[in-house]
Amino acid sequence: MSVEDLPKVELHLHLEGAAPPDFIRLLAGEQGVVLNGVFDAQGHYAWADFAGFLDCYHRACEVLTGPDEFRRLVEAVLAKSAHDGVIYTELFIAPHICGGGDRGAWFEYLDALYAGAAAARKAHGIEARFVSTCIRNLGPEAARLAAALSAEAAGPMLTGFGMGGEERHLAAADFAPAFDIAREAGLGLTSHAGEICGPGSVRETLDHLRPARIGHGVRAIEDPALVARLAVEGVVLEVNPGSNVALAVCPGWAAHPIDRLRRAGVKVTVSTDDPPYFHTDMAHEYRMLANTFGWGEEVFRDLNLTAIDAAFCDEPTRAAIR
Ligand code: ADE
Ligand code: ZN
Repeated sequence: MSVEDLPKVELHLHLEGAAPPDFIRLLAGEQGVVLNGVFDAQGHYAWADFAGFLDCYHRACEVLTGPDEFRRLVEAVLAKSAHDGVIYTELFIAPHICGGGDRGAWFEYLDALYAGAAAARKAHGIEARFVSTCIRNLGPEAARLAAALSAEAAGPMLTGFGMGGEERHLAAADFAPAFDIAREAGLGLTSHAGEICGPGSVRETLDHLRPARIGHGVRAIEDPALVARLAVEGVVLEVNPGSNVALAVCPGWAAHPIDRLRRAGVKVTVSTDDPPYFHTDMAHEYRMLANTFGWGEEVFRDLNLTAIDAAFCDEPTRAAIR
């Protein structure tokens, strides 16, 4: 079996960031909206750096106007994941994108998201859970609101809380109250760190937000003591190599630290982040990792077991995907 055909577990996939450009264009057409500057001449998402990527992402979200658009998006995204061999995936969503932080709207969006996941399970057998996120650059108050809405919605389908957005904005400690609310509600915790900012950002995140998982975390490689800490504490990294190469976090695949982190005993997993923005998918990630680092089936099976153990799901689901 080629590694691309292995069953895969993905822990870090932004729902809106996984929207195919054709899907966004279809919605724009239905709504008579012109999305200037969102696409390049080839029809791909157009951005040049991390800030431009976040801007393009949120501009594309303008046509995700209601619960039904999100239901359709979940179905389309999970169909593509299943096609790439993914059997379990965690989708990052945000109360501030799904209903603008309004409580009533948020629960309507959640019903639609769960309906999309149920339809995808029925059609493709793929299992999904949702990780609700705050957006760092919206600030600590918005993060607390996002956490409170997530805590209220905690249940079998909404199983985690996290933080994405502009990592250079404020300090991790400013978001501790939000993470405390989510922890209290029993949600699994993850936060982006060590993607755009260096090891200090990962250390602060570990100290103040105390997540079980870190989104990216790859710049920890710049500090050997931090790498050792990640290994000792068993923190799981949701690594997105293709994203890191596309955003120039790493100069290329050969320079990517995932193999060095793994050899240092850090629990690494593989995901795609925002696949159409970075011209990737899970099969492509596996192919590139196998070609670049000589990883064979055993390494990928090991990575997937790490991901299953770190998944924010109940034990029967974990047993079913193991
Ligand atoms: N939101 C979507 N993708 C992201 C990324 N790679 N980093 C931070 N926030 C994000
Ligand atoms: Zn991400």
